[in-house]
Amino acid sequence: MARKISVGVLGIGTVAELFYLEAIVKHGDRAELTALCDVVPGRAQAAAKKWGARAAFTDLGEMLASTDVEAVLVLTKHSQHYDHARQVLEAGRHLGIEKPIAATFDQATEIVELAEARGLKLAAAPAMAFEPVARRAEALIRDGAIGRVAAMRTHMTANPADRETEWQRIGPNLARIDTPPTDQTWMYQAGEGGPLFDLTPYQLIPPTRLMGPIKRVGAFTGIAVPERVSGSGPTKGQRFATTAPDNAVMLLDWGEDRFGMVYSGYLPANFRGPHTEYYGDAGVLAVNGGTGVDNIELYRTVTGGRGSRWESVGEPNDGWDVVDRAGAITHLVDCIADDAEVQLSARQALHILEVIDLVNESSARGQFLPTTTTFELPGALPA
Ligand SMILES: NC(=O)c1ccc[n+]([C@@H]2O[C@H](COP(=O)([O-])OP(=O)(O)OC[C@H]3O[C@@H](n4cnc5c(N)ncnc54)[C@H](O)[C@@H]3O)[C@@H](O)[C@H]2O)c1
Repeated sequence: MARKISVGVLGIGTVAELFYLEAIVKHGDRAELTALCDVVPGRAQAAAKKWGARAAFTDLGEMLASTDVEAVLVLTKHSQHYDHARQVLEAGRHLGIEKPIAATFDQATEIVELAEARGLKLAAAPAMAFEPVARRAEALIRDGAIGRVAAMRTHMTANPADRETEWQRIGPNLARIDTPPTDQTWMYQAGEGGPLFDLTPYQLIPPTRLMGPIKRVGAFTGIAVPERVSGSGPTKGQRFATTAPDNAVMLLDWGEDRFGMVYSGYLPANFRGPHTEYYGDAGVLAVNGGTGVDNIELYRTVTGGRGSRWESVGEPNDGWDVVDRAGAITHLVDCIADDAEVQLSARQALHILEVIDLVNESSARGQFLPTTTTFELPGALPA
């Protein structure tokens, strides 16, 4: 039997409890949930008991020094990612990390280069490449269903500090815990959160898988709701200020006359219409959903008369499996065990982070700005 990869998890907050810990346990034929670490006393111990981990810590250094974990999953706040990722890689451990890799493009570049220099694997969340409907859309477009893609449009919204209302909107699939264990108001703070860090990576992974690196960025960003009320967690009912942009519209230029329009915001609470559409020279592909039930519709252009109509393709997906959603760690474990190349590309994540940096800069300067980074995808996704 193949050996199991020993995993440590740093940051036992909302997302750990929402899907990562369960996914590692479900991946138990290859992964062993060895150690958990959270700075809040008792939080890692309680989770270790619940999920069957051997050890619990309040300090990452201690976890790295006193366990044999081969891979560490970093699930702390965005501004902490750089220090934590660095510490993990310097200790010679493989890294799975939630988005963004770091809170600045420069810091994220250091992390990716450090992993590459040390020959350590880095799997970057979110695992959109594995999301079943995104995967099916990619396969259809690669097979030529809508011809050459010339444009795309996508929108996404969330409100992390009002998780309970969010769950009513999204449906039961994501309602895995009653309430976040943590204060989520940090997600609205400058240099820390906001939809650009939180949502834009989900939106840009699928189109950059299909159309490659973005060449040029133009954007408007702003704060639409300067003061909010926390709707869940320990801060429920408290007022807080929004200091990160919560409202962003961006125009993307892929070169060769191919363009994108992206809305990322912490408003409004819902949308009508497909969350993503790709416009090709032979049709349109629409990915409906964003409410936990996604499906694809295709419109094939017919020249010179009747015949064009929308058709549904494949079965709707009513829940992205917890193991795939947590692909940053389950896939990393598989890649360590099989010595395979990581598909959740750190270089692609870094490119997207550069685009996010340029979105802010473009809005501030009122100019279109070119990207400097590029990436190559590591080949076909695992079946
Ligand atoms: N909340 C979500 O629904 C969600 C969904 C997808 C991805 N993410 C991503 O997951 C990551 C974590 O987000 P979250 O919402 O779970 O955050 P959170 O605030 O709920 O949890 C962070 C945890 O890290 C712990 N922590 C802070 N400093 C620490 C330290 N020095 N050492 C050890 N532990 C420490 C905190 O005590 C807390 O338990 C972010 O990158 C976020 O973008 C979140």
